[in-house]
Amino acid sequence: MVDLSVDLGNLHLQYPTLMGSGCYGSGEEFAPFVDLSRIGAVVLKSVTRQPRLGNPTPRLVHTPAGMLNAIGLQNPGIDWYLEHDVAKFADRPCVVIGSVAGFSVDDYAYTVEKLAARDEIKAIELNISCPNVASEGETFACDPNLTGKVVRAARAATGKTLIVKLSPNVTDIGAIAREAQAAGADALAVINTVRGMSIDVDLMRPRLGNVTGGLSGPAIRPIAVLAVYEVARAVTIPIVGQGGIETTRDAIEFFLAGASAVSIGTGNFTDPRIPMRIVDELAEFLRRRNVRSLKQIVGKANVGFANPYQYEGDEG
Ligand SMILES: Cc1cc2nc3c(=O)[nH]c(=O)nc-3n(C[C@H](O)[C@H](O)[C@H](O)COP(=O)(O)O)c2cc1C
Repeated sequence: MVDLSVDLGNLHLQYPTLMGSGCYGSGEEFAPFVDLSRIGAVVLKSVTRQPRLGNPTPRLVHTPAGMLNAIGLQNPGIDWYLEHDVAKFADRPCVVIGSVAGFSVDDYAYTVEKLAARDEIKAIELNISCPNVASEGETFACDPNLTGKVVRAARAATGKTLIVKLSPNVTDIGAIAREAQAAGADALAVINTVRGMSIDVDLMRPRLGNVTGGLSGPAIRPIAVLAVYEVARAVTIPIVGQGGIETTRDAIEFFLAGASAVSIGTGNFTDPRIPMRIVDELAEFLRRRNVRSLKQIVGKANVGFANPYQYEGDEG
């Protein structure tokens, strides 16, 4: 038996595969096609304090090796969500992680406290790739100070595992990661989408209703692997690596860079069985190399990375 389990703060997951926020619903839509008991956790679509209609359409654009999205955090708001949606997550055969977004520190604290109080929600992911209305719309995830403030407020609002999701749209992601850890994050999700844009040359205007959007899928994988590599050298808390993962070998790249778990987002739109395949093939990959625990290869390709479980050769 190969141990694929992972601990994110006080949350124990049997499998190291999470479903990316906004890309798997709450698992319900995929239940007829996949065995949800064989994924680590579903991260729900981000919810905000107030309801949001989202951005004007079109909201999705195909790009080479990926896609641009500008959904605009469409969601019913935390109160409606708690009353109508959250109870349905109780019977999911996998762990359910809530995701919170906001436009002020208060928004985050309020929404985290309400959502985390529910038993159906086992941990909170903080989507801090949002503009702060109190500081000229500066994105929380792009400023170490703002990151610290919002993470401290969320930390004070719950004792459940707090995963802080970082943006790649920064100069020094390690500095932001350090601030998030110092403010009380239990784990970091690395990375959210990369800013991008596409223009329709016949219509001579931007393809997205919102003009700009977030790029995801295989196109961003090398950016994400580097971000995980850099964050792993900056912090001691576990990392959930994500960005363009479609195959087991993609996932292994992230583990070797320093991720303890991975998340699959855009890949699920083409094949929702990717997460199950990764679990099977990952176990086989490790078994063939006589590695008994996934933890042993975390950071193996990250020079100087301190891993107490590090694998140094065949254990025969
Ligand atoms: C359509 C779509 C919606 C998304 N919605 C959210 C969201 O609500 N909150 C969030 O934190 N990330 C959201 N993301 C980002 C993904 O969770 C993921 O971090 C990112 O797409 C990179 O991984 P991937 O290349 O595997 O998709 C969304 C991505 C897509 C494509």
